[in-house]
Amino acid sequence: MVVIAHVSDLHVGAFNFRKKLLSEAIERINDLNPDVVIVTGDITENGYHMEFVLAEEYLEMIESPMMVVPGNHDARHVGNESFQEIIHQRYGTLNLNNKNMKIIGMDSSEPDLNYGKIGRSQQARMESELIKARKKNLYKIIALHHHIIPVPKTGRERNVLTDAGDILKSVIDGKADLVLSGHKHVPHVWLVENTAFVTAGTVSSLKLRGKDLPSFNIINITDETIEIVLNQLGGKSKSIVKYENSCKIN
Ligand SMILES: [Fe+2]
Ligand SMILES: [Fe+2]
Repeated sequence: MVVIAHVSDLHVGAFNFRKKLLSEAIERINDLNPDVVIVTGDITENGYHMEFVLAEEYLEMIESPMMVVPGNHDARHVGNESFQEIIHQRYGTLNLNNKNMKIIGMDSSEPDLNYGKIGRSQQARMESELIKARKKNLYKIIALHHHIIPVPKTGRERNVLTDAGDILKSVIDGKADLVLSGHKHVPHVWLVENTAFVTAGTVSSLKLRGKDLPSFNIINITDETIEIVLNQLGGKSKSIVKYENSCKIN
């Protein structure tokens, strides 16, 4: 069994950021002791250096291995430089060899812009990492902030990747198992071919739609099934989807 925590859109520094929510989420995640925690961007509100310092203080409390990618808010005010200085590289690969798993982190942010783009060089890197992973029969996860496929209940679509069509083709052709994103603050799952496209809610801000609650996702992978569970802060946990595991790791 592999357990993944998918956390997104902390928005540290926002007026509607709530440190109590983030502390509660970190406590719950550490109690679950996942094999990896994947944070899909917007860890800060404005990309300010001090916001990254504070965000890192929280992230350091997470006890599991972690992959963090930047979001559009993190790329404001040369936040891309602060991200690299305080968190780690804006994109990269995390191999969990004992779990036969490869996580490919991508930077979809553009300085001071809200829209997302991967670009040809990162696309080529993703494709080659997916090929390497397939040769070793690894479970393949892609983490990026912006969604590749539109998310329901989010109004007019403006922020899907500008190169979404190209990236979607590479993801499907490369037989990625899981694509994790944030940005819209709406937890959702699309199953396309053999890939699950999962978006997370905001974990610690009140930038919410209607009566939605802040949340994070837990993904439980067994030999037989993959289940994506929505963990609401101040609410119940509920299964979003459970489907057959065609990859067979463990
Ligand atoms: Fe966000
Ligand atoms: Fe965002």
